Amino acid sequence: MKTKALYTGSFDPLTNGHMNIIERAAKLYDELTIGIIVNPSKKCLFSLEERRRMISDALRHLPNVSVDCFSGLLARYVNDNGFNVVVRGLRATMDFEYEIQMAQMNARLFDETVETVFLMTDPKYSFISSSMIKEVHSLGGSIEGLVPDEILRKMDESIGDK
Ligand code: COA
Repeated sequence: MKTKALYTGSFDPLTNGHMNIIERAAKLYDELTIGIIVNPSKKCLFSLEERRRMISDALRHLPNVSVDCFSGLLARYVNDNGFNVVVRGLRATMDFEYEIQMAQMNARLFDETVETVFLMTDPKYSFISSSMIKEVHSLGGSIEGLVPDEILRKMDESIGDK
């Protein structure tokens, strides 16, 4: 059976922490979809379409990885699209409580063939979040090495546009 995995998030922007999880998950599963969520509670720097394009560009070297967007209940998207695995990254113990709650709630909602699988974030990136990346960049700090080069270019352009 082909394994279809999903890695979700807002990815505003995608960071090298996300990239590390994606590259490792792409080796573990036959197909990996990056599901960009429309999260109405987050004020995003990049539009959904901009994020989809930026992420697709940054992941061009991974042939079994595709990018999609979705809104609403994660479990519905997972069940409707026949995913077997939902990949989550754990950066530190601070992520654990939130993630276990979400995984246990999702376990009730997922079809019974679906598992949530956790990968430990590389310690090189365990301190970053998309919000911190945006804050440091907007204040003129360097984020080189923390986001893919394509994303850094777009972020520089977004500052130039303002
Ligand atoms: N490296 C670097 N940063 C990482 C990371 C990693 N490996 N993993 C997570 N992060 C960062 C993200 O960039 C994000 O930063 P931000 O809050 O500054 O934007 C933060 O950690 C949280 O990430 P995540 O938990 O993936 O949040 P999200 O908003 O990106 O995605 C969903 C949240 C999509 C997983 C969740 O809201 C969801 O499933 N929503 C659907 C609705 C639903 O079904 N709800 C019921 C759930 S039981």
